[in-house]
Amino acid sequence: MKKLVMLLICVLASLPAFGQKSPDWLKAAVFYQIYPSSFQDSDGNGIGDLKGIQSRLDYVQSIGVNTIWLNPIFKSAFIDGGYDVIDYYQVDPRFGTNSGLVELVNEVHRRKMHIVLDLVAGHSSNQSEWFKQSMQADSNLQYSDYYIWAPNKPNDLSEQDASRWVEANAPRAKYYIKNYYDAQPALNYGFAHPDPKHPWEQAVDAPGPQAVRRELQNIITFWLEKGVDGFRVDMASSLVKGDPDKAATIALWKDLTGWFRGKYPEGVLIAEWFNPKQSIAAGFDVDFMRPGKLTSANERGSATPAKVYFAKAGEGSPADWEAYFKDQYESTVGKGYTSLPTGNHDQPRIAGEDRKDPAELKVLLAFLLTQPGIPLIYYGDELGMKYIANSPDVEGSRNRSGSRTPMQWDGSEDAGFSSSSKDKLYIPLDPDPNRPTVAKQDKDPNSQLNYVRGLLKLRKSAAALDNEGGLEFLSDVAQPYPLVYMRHKGNEKYVIAINPTNKSVEAKIVSQSAHRAIYSFGTTETSSYKTGNGVDTIQLPPVSAAVFKLE
Ligand code: GLC
Repeated sequence: MKKLVMLLICVLASLPAFGQKSPDWLKAAVFYQIYPSSFQDSDGNGIGDLKGIQSRLDYVQSIGVNTIWLNPIFKSAFIDGGYDVIDYYQVDPRFGTNSGLVELVNEVHRRKMHIVLDLVAGHSSNQSEWFKQSMQADSNLQYSDYYIWAPNKPNDLSEQDASRWVEANAPRAKYYIKNYYDAQPALNYGFAHPDPKHPWEQAVDAPGPQAVRRELQNIITFWLEKGVDGFRVDMASSLVKGDPDKAATIALWKDLTGWFRGKYPEGVLIAEWFNPKQSIAAGFDVDFMRPGKLTSANERGSATPAKVYFAKAGEGSPADWEAYFKDQYESTVGKGYTSLPTGNHDQPRIAGEDRKDPAELKVLLAFLLTQPGIPLIYYGDELGMKYIANSPDVEGSRNRSGSRTPMQWDGSEDAGFSSSSKDKLYIPLDPDPNRPTVAKQDKDPNSQLNYVRGLLKLRKSAAALDNEGGLEFLSDVAQPYPLVYMRHKGNEKYVIAINPTNKSVEAKIVSQSAHRAIYSFGTTETSSYKTGNGVDTIQLPPVSAAVFKLE
């Protein structure tokens, strides 16, 4: 009997992540994404750095966010803005030092906030020591199998796969497989279904892929031991090759996230997967959602421009979004979190030439910041910083530089971002002399900044509106405007009504059996919610949003 109990204990102990969940602090987490080269320069070279970020923590905290995600800060060749890492154990000198990072982490923690870094798990720089060694003719060196090398390129590759083969003519072999740019060779986590005729396709449990997996654990351990709270994992779904249903990639992450959860119960892993159904099943705590046609006609990856829902013209529909969101969100409830960001370093910002009216932005923010899951504010979106079309291509940004312009702090020449001359700035500033700044908006009670602060304060004060509060769509998708939904927890209920159009709109919804609805927050108090017999009626003026508390 004793032996049996011991055996059971051993089995349970060896099961990764057995019964363990995300840390509690995620329940109230609100993310703030910082692109480090663009946030605050402390040494006058025109490029942002860690000391700069540290000097702005009071501001970051004042927004109402509590968890910072930094885009990559490790030693890089900057062929892809830091997503081409040369040394995963070293902060790039552009940003500071390892001990400078520890100082920043401590300052963040002193404010009871958290900080996560960006882990480029799928590929390194072609200038990393690992890659340089794996190029050598001798294939028995420590890093030889960290990458995928092949002597010849098969003819039957799909177009997408073929585009990933880079002709290197290295002593080791003619080709390697990349993930994004040529300078980003894919790390070798193995193939889901290795073809014996393709000797370069190693199994996920072959020594090379297993060594890369251990390396990833070492990197994670290295930074978590320094106090970092976790990672956002770049292209997390890309690791195992030839894995269309992602089964092998999910299995790999289950292994790693299980190990992680056991070792760092307070740590978090956030996936860049854009498929919470898969990534949460793989053990991630959070995954991002794409806003689809809600906010942008030219969503990356979509061929045809669509009618945008959040546009004054009012020609869009939330139907696709509702279906997609329900499906993804419902499969993750109680297991992990979705996150619908205001933007990121890869997408055009929500503010731009096609959406520049502050009222419109406020309506969109009311929607984004009252969703379940973890809100994320991309630096500057709290001010309405614009996507600057035709910004120069910097370090592989291509047209993404328009979303990576320097943070706008004040009315000085460099907007308080740097003391360098204007022509040395990482990316040129928004040239508009009336560009929004923290200094201006901080003082103005009606500014977008203070509106965002108000929304986040409301979110914090009401359990129904927090990351785990429930969501129910109330309006009829066949009548797309306004969009009305409820957030609820226990007996607490909030109804949110959103009207992006330039017309007054009315929604009749099934009665929520409330005595009354109190306007709690929004763009204007002139909206109304009348409780009725069998039917509740909500009226909204043009371009407005309102949050009502039901009592
Ligand atoms: C991710 C990053 C993007 C980068 C790419 C390759 O999608 O968000 O900025 O270029 O991965 O690493």
